[in-house]
Amino acid sequence: MAQARSLFVTLEGIEGSGKSTQIGRLASWLEAEGHRVERTREPGRTALGEAVRAILLDPRHRSLSSLADLLLYNAARAQHLAEVVEPALADGCLVLCDRYKDSTLAYQGFAGDVPLAAIQEIHSLPGLARDPDLTLLLDLPVEAGLARARRRLAEAGDRLGRFESLDAAFHQKVRDGYLELARRFPARITVIDAAGSEDEVFVRLRDALAAALGRRS
Ligand code: TYD
Repeated sequence: MAQARSLFVTLEGIEGSGKSTQIGRLASWLEAEGHRVERTREPGRTALGEAVRAILLDPRHRSLSSLADLLLYNAARAQHLAEVVEPALADGCLVLCDRYKDSTLAYQGFAGDVPLAAIQEIHSLPGLARDPDLTLLLDLPVEAGLARARRRLAEAGDRLGRFESLDAAFHQKVRDGYLELARRFPARITVIDAAGSEDEVFVRLRDALAAALGRRS
């Protein structure tokens, strides 16, 4: 069991919702508040996670089936939980993770073609059963997100741009899927309006996280 002060927080959202920028700001704020923070992301961080990332970035794998995607992301996830997340929680850290199981439900489930029940079954396997204490869902219209993501894609080499080339209808399903998850799990998922300036969105995220931390102390 994780210690009382530990907290597992995930950030979710469509492409271009600003997660990566905001997670850095949240980590700095939390550290300034005296928390020990483990900042991480999926897929990645472990050797296996980085290898999965390399597979997904490889143009030869552009047309992987949703099931193959599902299993790859979850292989990386199992290793990430065992190597990074669980030890950090056991050590009393606040874990801030960029994408987690809701990404799989939104992308491979709602927007892909894998039945949600099959995903949930995999997610409940021992070694994958950990759910976040809090999920911050950065929500914004698909057109706004894709425009931001395309600008950013030109700058960075290590981004899984595969999904940005899919059409807006796909991303709309991802967004709608996330919002449906927020309706199903209101106690865990807080929807944050991601439209507006970086500072405005940061304040919304910080307030939601501060409220969650307040409820635990
Ligand atoms: P990434 O390059 O990490 O960028 P960002 O998180 O900023 O969008 O891309 C991760 C991609 O992988 C993203 O398009 C969502 C997708 N993904 C899934 O489809 N399923 C998953 O389970 C996870 C974790 C990610």
